[in-house]
Amino acid sequence: METKIPQKFVAVVLAAGHGTRMKSHRPKVLHEVLGLPMTAHVLKAAQDAGCSRAILILGADADDTFSTLSSAVESFPVEQATQNPPRGTGDAVRCALEKLGDEDVAVILNGDIPCIQSDDVKRVMDAWEANTLVVGTTRLSDPSGYGRIIRGIDGSPTDIREDRDCRPEEKSIVDVNLGIYAVDAALLARELPRLESNNSQGEYYLTDLVKLCRSSQANTRAVTYESCEDLMGVNDRIHLAHAEKRLRMRVLHKLMTEGVTLLDPERALVESSVQIGKDTVLEADVTIRGASTIGEGCRIGQSSVLMNATLGDGVQILPHCVLEQCTLESDVKAGPFARLRPGTILRKGSAVGNFVEMKKTDFGPGSKAGHLSYLGDATIGRGVNVGAGTITCNYDGTHKHPTVLEDGVFVGSDTQFVAPVHVGEKGYIGAGTTVTQDVPAGALAVSRVRQENKEGWVARRSAGSNASKPENKRDR
Ligand code: UD1
Ligand code: MG
Repeated sequence: METKIPQKFVAVVLAAGHGTRMKSHRPKVLHEVLGLPMTAHVLKAAQDAGCSRAILILGADADDTFSTLSSAVESFPVEQATQNPPRGTGDAVRCALEKLGDEDVAVILNGDIPCIQSDDVKRVMDAWEANTLVVGTTRLSDPSGYGRIIRGIDGSPTDIREDRDCRPEEKSIVDVNLGIYAVDAALLARELPRLESNNSQGEYYLTDLVKLCRSSQANTRAVTYESCEDLMGVNDRIHLAHAEKRLRMRVLHKLMTEGVTLLDPERALVESSVQIGKDTVLEADVTIRGASTIGEGCRIGQSSVLMNATLGDGVQILPHCVLEQCTLESDVKAGPFARLRPGTILRKGSAVGNFVEMKKTDFGPGSKAGHLSYLGDATIGRGVNVGAGTITCNYDGTHKHPTVLEDGVFVGSDTQFVAPVHVGEKGYIGAGTTVTQDVPAGALAVSRVRQENKEGWVARRSAGSNASKPENKRDR
């Protein structure tokens, strides 16, 4: 038996089509599935399957599309090839030829199959041999829209007939083309120039390569996928919603097998980039995106949204919190209704209550801000108590200024810090104070007007108002 020489597998990803069925101003391939453009999922699967690089076929003026997609798979070398105008999938692969080496094997993937996994890609790679076109196929109870596989007596494909071009007797064929192929670059270079466009769409179909191979002594081989839900092409918004749900459930199942509890898996969204430790509980309607990392034994309350958040162990997030690009060390408690914005760090054991907003604030260990506060550009020491209604006035209309509260400071309710301002260790701010100057360590700062009580004022007021009432005026 001929031994396989290790070859360079290069992914050729087709993404230049108009995607008209999406009815969108955006290119189809940029529509997101679980937070990533759909074609980025395809590139990732190719990378994980062992392809050494990728050639991404895009339409005209697609530089932005290219940079969005290639930056989503940072460690994978991706090159752009342009197909202008798009004249079919065969023409698209032709545009990649000059970037393929003679010894390369092209792993051709439609860019619109976002649920594909690396094992699916590996299967056509494993089935490949020299001078062979490998086609991924499956059997569908409803094959409409897909190219039908026509087989010879030995069972290998002799042709693929596109849905629109099927003769009535071919329409009932349930054996379909999935749009996943492995083929020698040399075979492509030899056969692609022979493609013709005499079909219902006037396009150069890649699928016609099958019959060209058969007429030129090249081999064709079908690899049959039993379970094909992951390989369904996304052509419209209904397909997009199916793909979103499928990927979402895949991530949630993996989390559950790793020891994460989901109170209602139908109502949680966690992107695949997120890491969550054992015994953490996600309540319903939680959304966790980006490079978020969550420790063990945490609880994320209902309807909370986390984006690029880092949580230590034992963090408790009560319902309806929004966290973005912030760090919560272990045993922190936040919410309900807390908003933690970029650059915020809540140190170990600190607590942030309802309607508290923080931005670029380092909140010290064991400190507390229980209610209705805004802390921005602030450095808060250890064991600080921030009373209800405390506001850092950090912006003077032009610049942002810092507020620093040293360890053990006590801030009475309804305090404003007009930054820049510094309060020394164990400084004490009386309720209702507007702090405009630094406060020395251990000092009390109060700025409110002294209270005056006027005895009997209420009675005098009502007597005065009765006397002024006109006698014959009816009550209204
Ligand atoms: C294609 C196959 C069909 C298969 C189905 C599987 C052909 C002719 N048909 O049909 O046999 O059953 O996929 O999902 O290949 N593209 C380009 N340039 C073009 C046209 C398309 O890059 O000129 C890209 C698209 O962006 C898309 C992919 O190729 O990512 C497939 O194109 P699409 O129009 O979706 O083909 P299907 O009709 O789904
Ligand atoms: Mg398609």
